[in-house]
Amino acid sequence: MSIPVSNYQLVQLTNGSWSVRSLAEGETFHPVVGPVAEAQALYVEQLQLPARVAAAAENGSQEFVIWDVGLGAAANTLTVLRALHGIDRHRVRIVSFDHTATPLEFALGNAERLGYFGGYEAPVRSLLDSGRVEFAHGSGVVTWEFVGGDFPTLLESEASKALPAPDAILFDAYSPARNPVMWTLPVFRALRNRVDPSRPCALATYSRATLLRVTLLLAGWWVGAGSATGEKEETTLAASDRSLVGRPLDQTWIGRALRSRSAEPMVEPVYRQLPLSDETRARLLAHPQFG
Ligand SMILES: C[S@@+](CC[C@H](N)C(=O)[O-])C[C@H]1O[C@@H](n2cnc3c(N)ncnc32)[C@H](O)[C@@H]1O
Repeated sequence: MSIPVSNYQLVQLTNGSWSVRSLAEGETFHPVVGPVAEAQALYVEQLQLPARVAAAAENGSQEFVIWDVGLGAAANTLTVLRALHGIDRHRVRIVSFDHTATPLEFALGNAERLGYFGGYEAPVRSLLDSGRVEFAHGSGVVTWEFVGGDFPTLLESEASKALPAPDAILFDAYSPARNPVMWTLPVFRALRNRVDPSRPCALATYSRATLLRVTLLLAGWWVGAGSATGEKEETTLAASDRSLVGRPLDQTWIGRALRSRSAEPMVEPVYRQLPLSDETRARLLAHPQFG
């Protein structure tokens, strides 16, 4: 069953939960297990957010910064916030990126059916109205800002240098085939360059494509197999620090990558599938993860 409205549509999934679908892109935001279950498995748990945010709060260190790449209908961020609510005196800053706030407007208008907005309608409304909101959250404080515009262009801009470095990244663009501009080597290199060397950062994303994993490795991340989400039996977890990657890709994976017909990173934002070039192969084998 589906209810069409403008460029976005509510879609009921087979497990009964509701999600948002972009008609223009032809993609459903969290297509199988639904928004909350996917966000919980993919981001809350595998990025170890409750433990890392609690540790930051205990140390009295600076805010824990989460980059939410592809705010969309905010299911990921709101699921993360709900998971952090009970942590004593947490201080979390969320920086959400998207080139449109329309899916969030649409989702807020359908909050009841989507089910994951409960209690967060007011901060979401403020975010939409002002681009920034700060609010008490249990015994903690959350600052949430929206950064509009094309994400790859923004990453290359001087203005982006003023953004706080991320401790965790929720990377949720549309698929590489539909949305290649978000999955290039320059994007993941620029993201890696934004990490503060004194603050280990982990990035999770739903794709397990060899092409993506090679891209992350070449961009300077440690890369591992990510946990299952119900939709995918495996996802991808990358980090600036090896200790944050539980199941690093190994020689068996390298063997598969060397044989793959779709492993060469995209440098330009045009989707195509190619086996590894000689140069990429050499750089991959020289990555410290495989040394
Ligand atoms: C799969 S949806 C995100 C779903 C969202 N994380 C959620 O929890 O509801 C992908 C999002 O990426 C955004 N996006 C795609 N290309 C972009 C670009 N070049 N710059 C910024 N945002 C982009 C889309 O507008 C869309 O909202």
